[in-house]
Amino acid sequence: MTAPRKKLYIRTFGCQMNVADSQAMAQALAPDYALAARAEDADLFLINTCAIRRKSEEKVKSLLGSLKVFKKTRPQLLIGVGGCVAQQEGERLLAAAPHLNLVFGPRALRRLPELVARGQRGERPVDVELTPGIAEEPCTAQPGRVQALVTIMQGCDNFCAFCVVPYVRGREESREPAAILREVAAFLAGGGLEVTLLGQNVNSYGRGLPESVTFPELLRRVAALPGMARVRFATSHPRDLSPELIALFGELPALCPHLHLPVQSGANRILAAMNRGYTREEYLDRVAALKSACPGIALTTDLIVGFPGETEADFEDTLTLMREAAFDAAFSFKYSPRPQTRAASFPGQVAEAVKAARLARLQALQEELTLRSNARLVGQVSEVLVEGASRRSPRELSGRLRSNQVVNFPGPPDLVGRLATVELTEAHPHSLKGRWVEASSTSWPLVA
Ligand code: 5AD
Ligand code: SF4
Repeated sequence: MTAPRKKLYIRTFGCQMNVADSQAMAQALAPDYALAARAEDADLFLINTCAIRRKSEEKVKSLLGSLKVFKKTRPQLLIGVGGCVAQQEGERLLAAAPHLNLVFGPRALRRLPELVARGQRGERPVDVELTPGIAEEPCTAQPGRVQALVTIMQGCDNFCAFCVVPYVRGREESREPAAILREVAAFLAGGGLEVTLLGQNVNSYGRGLPESVTFPELLRRVAALPGMARVRFATSHPRDLSPELIALFGELPALCPHLHLPVQSGANRILAAMNRGYTREEYLDRVAALKSACPGIALTTDLIVGFPGETEADFEDTLTLMREAAFDAAFSFKYSPRPQTRAASFPGQVAEAVKAARLARLQALQEELTLRSNARLVGQVSEVLVEGASRRSPRELSGRLRSNQVVNFPGPPDLVGRLATVELTEAHPHSLKGRWVEASSTSWPLVA
Protein backbone atom coordinates (compact mmCIF):
# COMPACT_ATOMS: atom_id res chain seq x y z
CA MET A 1 0.00 0.00 0.00
CA THR A 2 1.25 3.46 -0.78
CA ALA A 3 1.57 5.99 2.06
CA PRO A 4 -1.29 8.51 2.30
CA ARG A 5 -0.46 11.83 0.71
CA LYS A 6 0.52 14.72 2.94
CA LYS A 7 -1.55 17.91 3.09
CA LEU A 8 -0.84 21.11 1.18
CA TYR A 9 -2.40 24.49 1.89
CA ILE A 10 -1.86 27.42 -0.49
CA ARG A 11 -2.72 31.04 0.30
CA THR A 12 -2.85 33.05 -2.91
CA PHE A 13 -2.49 36.83 -3.21
CA GLY A 14 -2.78 38.91 -6.36
CA CYS A 15 -3.99 38.43 -9.90
CA GLN A 16 -5.50 35.59 -11.93
CA MET A 17 -1.99 34.69 -13.06
CA ASN A 18 -1.14 33.91 -9.44
CA VAL A 19 -4.33 31.87 -9.05
CA ALA A 20 -3.25 29.86 -12.10
CA ASP A 21 0.27 29.50 -10.70
CA SER A 22 -1.13 28.18 -7.41
CA GLN A 23 -3.04 25.56 -9.39
CA ALA A 24 0.21 24.67 -11.16
CA MET A 25 1.93 24.31 -7.75
CA ALA A 26 -0.82 21.93 -6.58
CA GLN A 27 -0.49 19.97 -9.80
CA ALA A 28 3.31 19.75 -9.53
CA LEU A 29 3.09 18.48 -5.95
CA ALA A 30 0.06 16.19 -6.49
CA PRO A 31 2.04 12.91 -6.33
CA ASP A 32 2.97 13.65 -2.70
CA TYR A 33 0.47 16.24 -1.50
CA ALA A 34 -3.32 16.54 -1.48
CA LEU A 35 -4.92 19.97 -1.09
CA ALA A 36 -6.19 20.70 2.43
CA ALA A 37 -9.26 22.86 2.94
CA ARG A 38 -7.96 24.30 6.22
CA ALA A 39 -4.54 25.71 7.04
CA GLU A 40 -4.64 23.83 10.39
CA ASP A 41 -4.29 20.51 8.55
CA ALA A 42 -1.28 21.49 6.44
CA ASP A 43 2.08 19.72 6.35
CA LEU A 44 3.22 22.21 3.72
CA PHE A 45 2.00 25.85 3.74
CA LEU A 46 2.78 27.84 0.60
CA ILE A 47 2.18 31.58 0.25
CA ASN A 48 1.91 32.71 -3.35
CA THR A 49 2.74 36.40 -3.23
CA CYS A 50 2.06 39.61 -5.14
CA ALA A 51 4.45 42.56 -5.42
CA ILE A 52 2.43 44.87 -7.65
CA ARG A 53 1.90 47.49 -4.92
CA ARG A 54 3.53 48.04 -1.56
CA LYS A 55 0.28 47.18 0.22
CA SER A 56 0.15 43.73 -1.37
CA GLU A 57 3.73 43.11 -0.31
CA GLU A 58 2.98 44.18 3.27
CA LYS A 59 0.04 41.76 3.52
CA VAL A 60 2.36 38.90 2.58
CA LYS A 61 4.97 39.87 5.14
CA SER A 62 2.38 40.14 7.89
CA LEU A 63 0.98 36.67 7.08
CA LEU A 64 4.49 35.25 7.11
CA GLY A 65 5.05 36.85 10.53
CA SER A 66 1.87 35.32 11.95
CA LEU A 67 2.91 31.86 10.76
CA LYS A 68 5.79 31.94 13.22
CA VAL A 69 3.40 31.33 16.13
CA PHE A 70 1.40 28.82 14.08
CA LYS A 71 4.52 26.77 13.45
CA LYS A 72 5.21 26.48 17.19
CA THR A 73 2.12 24.24 17.42
CA ARG A 74 3.19 22.25 14.34
CA PRO A 75 6.96 21.91 14.34
CA GLN A 76 6.90 19.54 11.32
CA LEU A 77 5.20 22.18 9.16
CA LEU A 78 7.18 23.30 6.11
CA ILE A 79 6.58 26.89 5.00
CA GLY A 80 7.37 28.20 1.52
CA VAL A 81 7.06 31.62 -0.06
CA GLY A 82 6.56 31.70 -3.82
CA GLY A 83 5.54 34.23 -6.46
CA CYS A 84 6.55 37.81 -7.10
CA VAL A 85 7.67 38.90 -3.61
CA ALA A 86 9.77 35.72 -3.42
CA GLN A 87 11.39 36.68 -6.71
CA GLN A 88 12.01 40.23 -5.56
CA GLU A 89 13.30 39.48 -2.06
CA GLY A 90 14.95 36.04 -2.47
CA GLU A 91 17.48 35.30 0.31
CA ARG A 92 16.35 38.37 2.26
CA LEU A 93 13.10 36.57 3.16
CA LEU A 94 15.02 33.65 4.69
CA ALA A 95 17.13 36.04 6.73
CA ALA A 96 14.05 37.90 8.02
CA ALA A 97 12.03 34.77 8.83
CA PRO A 98 13.92 31.91 10.52
CA HIS A 99 10.76 29.75 10.36
CA LEU A 100 10.70 29.91 6.55
CA ASN A 101 11.89 26.76 4.74
CA LEU A 102 11.92 27.60 1.04
CA VAL A 103 11.66 30.51 -1.38
CA PHE A 104 10.78 30.14 -5.07
CA GLY A 105 9.95 32.59 -7.85
CA PRO A 106 7.20 32.37 -10.50
CA ARG A 107 9.54 30.60 -12.94
CA ALA A 108 10.50 27.81 -10.55
CA LEU A 109 7.19 25.96 -10.34
CA ARG A 110 8.38 22.93 -12.27
CA ARG A 111 11.25 22.55 -9.79
CA LEU A 112 8.97 22.77 -6.75
CA PRO A 113 8.91 19.03 -5.86
CA GLU A 114 12.72 19.06 -5.70
CA LEU A 115 12.75 22.27 -3.62
CA VAL A 116 10.22 20.82 -1.16
CA ALA A 117 12.29 17.62 -0.86
CA ARG A 118 15.34 19.73 -0.03
CA GLY A 119 13.29 21.65 2.54
CA GLN A 120 12.34 18.34 4.15
CA ARG A 121 16.00 17.43 4.43
CA GLY A 122 16.58 20.59 6.47
CA GLU A 123 18.02 22.74 3.70
CA ARG A 124 16.56 26.19 3.02
CA PRO A 125 16.58 26.39 -0.79
CA VAL A 126 16.07 29.62 -2.74
CA ASP A 127 15.20 29.34 -6.44
CA VAL A 128 14.70 32.70 -8.14
CA GLU A 129 16.06 31.73 -11.54
CA LEU A 130 14.14 33.51 -14.31
CA THR A 131 14.98 30.80 -16.80
CA PRO A 132 12.64 30.05 -19.70
CA GLY A 133 10.98 26.63 -19.83
CA ILE A 134 7.25 27.19 -20.06
CA ALA A 135 6.87 23.87 -21.90
CA GLU A 136 7.76 21.96 -18.73
CA GLU A 137 5.40 23.90 -16.46
CA PRO A 138 2.50 21.92 -15.00
CA CYS A 139 -0.98 22.49 -16.43
CA THR A 140 -3.34 24.79 -14.56
CA ALA A 141 -6.82 23.69 -15.71
CA GLN A 142 -8.30 21.56 -12.95
CA PRO A 143 -10.23 18.48 -14.03
CA GLY A 144 -13.78 18.28 -12.70
CA ARG A 145 -14.24 22.06 -12.50
CA VAL A 146 -16.39 24.09 -14.90
CA GLN A 147 -14.07 27.10 -15.14
CA ALA A 148 -10.39 27.00 -16.03
CA LEU A 149 -7.52 29.43 -16.12
CA VAL A 150 -5.08 28.39 -18.83
CA THR A 151 -1.67 30.03 -18.98
CA ILE A 152 -0.66 30.73 -22.58
CA MET A 153 2.40 32.85 -21.90
CA GLN A 154 4.58 34.15 -19.11
CA GLY A 155 6.55 37.28 -18.42
CA CYS A 156 6.32 40.74 -19.90
CA ASP A 157 8.65 42.79 -22.11
CA ASN A 158 6.74 46.08 -21.93
CA PHE A 159 8.44 47.85 -19.06
CA CYS A 160 5.70 50.31 -18.21
CA ALA A 161 7.45 52.82 -15.97
CA PHE A 162 5.39 51.96 -12.86
CA CYS A 163 5.33 48.19 -13.13
CA VAL A 164 7.41 45.58 -11.35
CA VAL A 165 6.12 42.63 -13.43
CA PRO A 166 8.95 42.50 -16.00
CA TYR A 167 11.46 42.30 -13.13
CA VAL A 168 9.69 39.57 -11.17
CA ARG A 169 8.24 37.48 -13.99
CA GLY A 170 11.03 37.82 -16.52
CA ARG A 171 10.96 37.95 -20.31
CA GLU A 172 7.99 36.97 -22.41
CA GLU A 173 7.67 33.34 -23.39
CA SER A 174 4.75 31.76 -25.25
CA ARG A 175 3.51 28.24 -24.81
CA GLU A 176 3.17 25.97 -27.86
CA PRO A 177 -0.37 26.09 -29.31
CA ALA A 178 -0.61 22.28 -29.42
CA ALA A 179 -0.01 22.07 -25.65
CA ILE A 180 -2.65 24.74 -24.97
CA LEU A 181 -5.21 23.04 -27.22
CA ARG A 182 -4.57 19.67 -25.56
CA GLU A 183 -5.08 21.13 -22.10
CA VAL A 184 -8.28 22.95 -23.07
CA ALA A 185 -9.71 19.95 -24.99
CA ALA A 186 -9.13 17.65 -21.99
CA PHE A 187 -10.82 20.18 -19.69
CA LEU A 188 -13.87 20.47 -21.97
CA ALA A 189 -14.09 16.69 -22.37
CA GLY A 190 -14.39 16.49 -18.57
CA GLY A 191 -17.43 18.80 -18.55
CA GLY A 192 -15.69 22.19 -18.42
CA LEU A 193 -17.63 25.20 -19.72
CA GLU A 194 -15.51 28.34 -19.43
CA VAL A 195 -11.86 28.94 -20.25
CA THR A 196 -9.84 32.08 -19.55
CA LEU A 197 -6.58 32.30 -21.50
CA LEU A 198 -3.98 34.08 -19.42
CA GLY A 199 -0.89 36.08 -20.16
CA GLN A 200 0.54 39.40 -19.02
CA ASN A 201 0.14 40.71 -22.56
CA VAL A 202 -1.72 38.21 -24.73
CA ASN A 203 -1.46 40.36 -27.86
CA SER A 204 2.19 39.49 -28.25
CA TYR A 205 1.45 35.76 -28.04
CA GLY A 206 3.42 33.64 -30.50
CA ARG A 207 6.65 35.62 -30.66
CA GLY A 208 9.59 33.25 -30.62
CA LEU A 209 7.58 30.07 -31.24
CA PRO A 210 8.75 27.67 -33.97
CA GLU A 211 5.20 27.62 -35.45
CA SER A 212 4.18 31.14 -36.37
CA VAL A 213 0.80 31.63 -34.72
CA THR A 214 -0.77 34.89 -33.57
CA PHE A 215 -3.13 35.40 -30.65
CA PRO A 216 -6.23 35.78 -32.90
CA GLU A 217 -5.35 32.47 -34.57
CA LEU A 218 -4.93 30.74 -31.22
CA LEU A 219 -8.22 32.19 -29.99
CA ARG A 220 -10.04 30.94 -33.11
CA ARG A 221 -8.71 27.43 -32.58
CA VAL A 222 -9.51 27.39 -28.86
CA ALA A 223 -13.02 28.80 -29.39
CA ALA A 224 -13.77 26.11 -31.98
CA LEU A 225 -13.06 23.17 -29.64
CA PRO A 226 -16.14 20.99 -29.12
CA GLY A 227 -18.07 21.80 -25.94
CA MET A 228 -16.65 25.30 -25.47
CA ALA A 229 -19.43 27.48 -24.02
CA ARG A 230 -17.42 30.52 -22.95
CA VAL A 231 -13.93 31.73 -23.67
CA ARG A 232 -12.29 34.85 -22.24
CA PHE A 233 -8.77 36.20 -22.16
CA ALA A 234 -6.67 38.55 -20.05
CA THR A 235 -4.81 40.80 -20.26
CA SER A 236 -4.74 42.75 -23.46
CA HIS A 237 -2.50 45.79 -23.91
CA PRO A 238 -4.36 48.64 -25.68
CA ARG A 239 -1.32 49.43 -27.84
CA ASP A 240 -1.34 45.99 -29.49
CA LEU A 241 -5.08 45.42 -29.72
CA SER A 242 -5.34 44.69 -33.45
CA PRO A 243 -8.34 45.21 -35.75
CA GLU A 244 -8.26 41.44 -36.35
CA LEU A 245 -8.70 40.70 -32.63
CA ILE A 246 -11.40 43.36 -32.29
CA ALA A 247 -13.33 41.77 -35.17
CA LEU A 248 -13.33 38.37 -33.44
CA PHE A 249 -15.71 39.75 -30.81
CA GLY A 250 -18.35 39.92 -33.51
CA GLU A 251 -17.41 36.57 -35.07
CA LEU A 252 -16.77 33.86 -32.48
CA PRO A 253 -19.98 32.82 -30.70
CA ALA A 254 -18.07 31.34 -27.74
CA LEU A 255 -15.99 34.49 -27.16
CA CYS A 256 -17.61 36.36 -24.26
CA PRO A 257 -18.57 40.00 -24.91
CA HIS A 258 -16.25 41.44 -22.29
CA LEU A 259 -12.79 42.92 -22.54
CA HIS A 260 -10.50 44.08 -19.77
CA LEU A 261 -8.42 46.82 -21.36
CA PRO A 262 -6.26 48.63 -18.79
CA VAL A 263 -5.95 52.32 -19.72
CA GLN A 264 -4.13 53.53 -16.56
CA SER A 265 -4.63 57.26 -17.29
CA GLY A 266 -6.61 59.57 -19.55
CA ALA A 267 -3.85 62.18 -19.94
CA ASN A 268 -1.47 61.93 -22.89
CA ARG A 269 1.40 63.43 -20.92
CA ILE A 270 1.05 60.77 -18.23
CA LEU A 271 0.54 57.93 -20.73
CA ALA A 272 3.81 58.93 -22.40
CA ALA A 273 5.65 59.11 -19.06
CA MET A 274 4.25 55.68 -18.23
CA ASN A 275 5.66 54.33 -21.51
CA ARG A 276 2.27 52.94 -22.49
CA GLY A 277 2.70 53.47 -26.24
CA TYR A 278 -0.79 54.88 -27.01
CA THR A 279 -2.62 58.16 -26.66
CA ARG A 280 -6.00 58.87 -25.16
CA GLU A 281 -7.39 59.31 -28.67
CA GLU A 282 -6.00 55.99 -29.89
CA TYR A 283 -7.45 54.25 -26.86
CA LEU A 284 -10.88 55.77 -27.42
CA ASP A 285 -10.74 54.82 -31.13
CA ARG A 286 -10.19 51.20 -30.11
CA VAL A 287 -13.09 51.40 -27.68
CA ALA A 288 -15.31 52.71 -30.48
CA ALA A 289 -14.17 49.91 -32.80
CA LEU A 290 -14.93 47.30 -30.12
CA LYS A 291 -18.39 48.70 -29.53
CA SER A 292 -19.15 48.71 -33.21
CA ALA A 293 -17.84 45.13 -33.73
CA CYS A 294 -19.79 43.90 -30.74
CA PRO A 295 -22.63 46.13 -29.55
CA GLY A 296 -23.20 45.54 -25.84
CA ILE A 297 -19.61 44.49 -25.17
CA ALA A 298 -18.66 45.17 -21.54
CA LEU A 299 -15.44 47.09 -21.06
CA THR A 300 -13.46 47.11 -17.84
CA THR A 301 -10.17 48.76 -17.05
CA ASP A 302 -7.37 49.49 -14.58
CA LEU A 303 -6.61 53.05 -13.49
CA ILE A 304 -3.75 54.56 -11.53
CA VAL A 305 -4.07 57.91 -9.73
CA GLY A 306 -1.16 60.03 -8.55
CA PHE A 307 1.48 58.82 -11.01
CA PRO A 308 4.55 61.09 -10.61
CA GLY A 309 3.88 64.49 -12.20
CA GLU A 310 0.08 64.00 -12.41
CA THR A 311 -1.59 67.40 -12.12
CA GLU A 312 -5.20 68.15 -11.30
CA ALA A 313 -5.82 68.73 -15.04
CA ASP A 314 -4.24 65.35 -15.92
CA PHE A 315 -6.44 63.67 -13.34
CA GLU A 316 -9.52 65.34 -14.79
CA ASP A 317 -8.53 63.96 -18.20
CA THR A 318 -8.81 60.51 -16.62
CA LEU A 319 -12.31 61.31 -15.36
CA THR A 320 -13.48 62.53 -18.78
CA LEU A 321 -11.98 59.47 -20.48
CA MET A 322 -13.89 57.24 -18.05
CA ARG A 323 -17.14 58.93 -19.07
CA GLU A 324 -16.32 58.74 -22.78
CA ALA A 325 -15.37 55.07 -22.66
CA ALA A 326 -18.32 54.45 -20.28
CA PHE A 327 -16.47 51.68 -18.47
CA ASP A 328 -18.69 49.01 -16.98
CA ALA A 329 -16.26 48.51 -14.10
CA ALA A 330 -12.74 49.55 -13.10
CA PHE A 331 -9.99 48.53 -10.72
CA SER A 332 -8.32 51.68 -9.44
CA PHE A 333 -5.16 52.18 -7.46
CA LYS A 334 -3.02 54.86 -5.88
CA TYR A 335 0.37 54.89 -7.57
CA SER A 336 2.85 52.93 -5.46
CA PRO A 337 6.60 53.26 -6.14
CA ARG A 338 8.11 49.81 -6.78
CA PRO A 339 11.73 48.68 -6.54
CA GLN A 340 13.71 48.72 -9.82
CA THR A 341 11.00 50.57 -11.76
CA ARG A 342 11.82 53.84 -13.51
CA ALA A 343 8.88 55.81 -12.12
CA ALA A 344 10.03 55.22 -8.54
CA SER A 345 12.80 57.78 -9.12
CA PHE A 346 10.77 60.25 -11.23
CA PRO A 347 10.45 63.79 -9.87
CA GLY A 348 7.01 65.06 -8.90
CA GLN A 349 5.93 62.21 -6.60
CA VAL A 350 2.37 63.01 -5.53
CA ALA A 351 1.44 63.41 -1.86
CA GLU A 352 -0.46 60.52 -0.27
CA ALA A 353 -3.42 62.76 0.70
CA VAL A 354 -3.78 63.99 -2.88
CA LYS A 355 -3.72 60.42 -4.19
CA ALA A 356 -6.35 59.38 -1.65
CA ALA A 357 -8.65 62.28 -2.55
CA ARG A 358 -8.31 61.59 -6.30
CA LEU A 359 -8.96 57.88 -5.80
CA ALA A 360 -12.16 58.64 -3.87
CA ARG A 361 -13.42 60.96 -6.63
CA LEU A 362 -12.56 58.45 -9.32
CA GLN A 363 -14.26 55.60 -7.49
CA ALA A 364 -17.41 57.66 -6.93
CA LEU A 365 -17.57 58.33 -10.66
CA GLN A 366 -17.02 54.66 -11.51
CA GLU A 367 -19.76 53.66 -9.10
CA GLU A 368 -22.14 55.96 -10.97
CA LEU A 369 -21.04 54.53 -14.35
CA THR A 370 -21.31 50.91 -13.18
CA LEU A 371 -24.73 51.48 -11.71
CA ARG A 372 -25.88 53.09 -14.95
CA SER A 373 -24.56 50.22 -17.07
CA ASN A 374 -26.06 47.60 -14.75
CA ALA A 375 -29.40 49.43 -14.84
CA ARG A 376 -29.45 49.10 -18.63
CA LEU A 377 -29.41 45.29 -18.24
CA VAL A 378 -32.52 45.17 -16.03
CA GLY A 379 -35.36 43.42 -17.81
CA GLN A 380 -33.08 41.23 -19.95
CA VAL A 381 -33.19 37.45 -19.78
CA SER A 382 -29.58 36.26 -19.81
CA GLU A 383 -27.29 33.29 -19.39
CA VAL A 384 -25.52 32.97 -16.03
CA LEU A 385 -22.75 30.49 -15.27
CA VAL A 386 -23.51 29.64 -11.64
CA GLU A 387 -20.32 29.68 -9.58
CA GLY A 388 -21.59 28.98 -6.04
CA ALA A 389 -23.55 30.33 -3.10
CA SER A 390 -23.71 34.11 -2.95
CA ARG A 391 -21.33 35.73 -0.46
CA ARG A 392 -24.04 37.90 1.05
CA SER A 393 -26.78 35.33 1.48
CA PRO A 394 -26.19 31.55 1.55
CA ARG A 395 -29.71 31.01 0.22
CA GLU A 396 -28.83 32.82 -2.99
CA LEU A 397 -26.67 31.65 -5.87
CA SER A 398 -24.05 33.76 -7.57
CA GLY A 399 -22.70 33.63 -11.07
CA ARG A 400 -21.59 35.72 -14.01
CA LEU A 401 -23.16 36.90 -17.22
CA ARG A 402 -21.30 36.35 -20.49
CA SER A 403 -20.44 40.05 -20.20
CA ASN A 404 -18.91 39.28 -16.76
CA GLN A 405 -21.23 41.13 -14.36
CA VAL A 406 -22.03 39.29 -11.13
CA VAL A 407 -25.66 38.17 -10.74
CA ASN A 408 -27.19 36.93 -7.47
CA PHE A 409 -30.51 35.09 -7.50
CA PRO A 410 -32.47 32.61 -5.39
CA GLY A 411 -32.26 29.09 -6.85
CA PRO A 412 -31.60 25.43 -6.05
CA PRO A 413 -28.00 24.45 -5.09
CA ASP A 414 -27.81 21.87 -7.89
CA LEU A 415 -27.53 24.75 -10.37
CA VAL A 416 -23.94 25.33 -9.20
CA GLY A 417 -21.55 24.61 -12.04
CA ARG A 418 -24.29 24.90 -14.67
CA LEU A 419 -25.62 27.49 -17.06
CA ALA A 420 -28.92 29.01 -15.97
CA THR A 421 -31.30 31.43 -17.61
CA VAL A 422 -32.03 34.37 -15.35
CA GLU A 423 -34.19 37.45 -15.69
CA LEU A 424 -32.29 40.49 -14.42
CA THR A 425 -34.48 42.40 -11.98
CA GLU A 426 -32.38 44.93 -10.01
CA ALA A 427 -29.12 46.82 -10.54
CA HIS A 428 -26.65 47.44 -7.72
CA PRO A 429 -23.25 49.16 -7.85
CA HIS A 430 -21.29 45.89 -7.88
CA SER A 431 -23.80 43.28 -9.01
CA LEU A 432 -27.30 42.57 -10.30
CA LYS A 433 -30.21 40.69 -8.80
CA GLY A 434 -32.12 38.17 -10.82
CA ARG A 435 -34.98 35.72 -10.98
CA TRP A 436 -34.25 32.18 -12.11
CA VAL A 437 -36.13 31.24 -15.26
CA GLU A 438 -34.79 27.81 -16.21
CA ALA A 439 -31.87 25.46 -15.68
CA SER A 440 -30.06 25.38 -18.96
CA SER A 441 -29.75 28.23 -21.33
CA THR A 442 -31.82 27.91 -24.45
CA SER A 443 -29.76 30.55 -26.21
CA TRP A 444 -26.59 28.49 -26.26
CA PRO A 445 -26.28 25.03 -27.82
CA LEU A 446 -23.78 23.33 -25.53
CA VAL A 447 -23.05 20.52 -27.96
CA ALA A 448 -22.94 21.80 -31.48
N1 5AD B 1 1.17 51.35 -8.46
C1 5AD B 1 -0.18 51.29 -8.55
N2 5AD B 1 -0.82 50.46 -9.37
C2 5AD B 1 -0.08 49.63 -10.13
N3 5AD B 1 -0.43 48.69 -11.03
C3 5AD B 1 0.69 48.14 -11.53
N4 5AD B 1 1.78 48.69 -10.95
C4 5AD B 1 1.32 49.62 -10.07
C5 5AD B 1 1.96 50.53 -9.20
N5 5AD B 1 3.28 50.60 -9.10
C6 5AD B 1 -1.81 48.44 -11.42
C7 5AD B 1 -2.03 48.71 -12.91
C8 5AD B 1 -2.12 47.36 -13.51
C9 5AD B 1 -2.75 46.58 -12.37
C10 5AD B 1 -2.60 45.10 -12.46
O1 5AD B 1 -2.11 47.08 -11.22
O2 5AD B 1 -3.24 49.43 -13.04
O3 5AD B 1 -2.89 47.31 -14.68
FE1 SF4 C 1 3.20 45.66 -16.14
FE2 SF4 C 1 2.91 47.07 -18.42
FE3 SF4 C 1 3.69 44.47 -18.51
FE4 SF4 C 1 1.17 45.10 -17.80
S1 SF4 C 1 2.12 45.50 -19.82
S2 SF4 C 1 2.53 43.60 -16.78
S3 SF4 C 1 1.45 47.01 -16.68
S4 SF4 C 1 4.85 46.17 -17.63
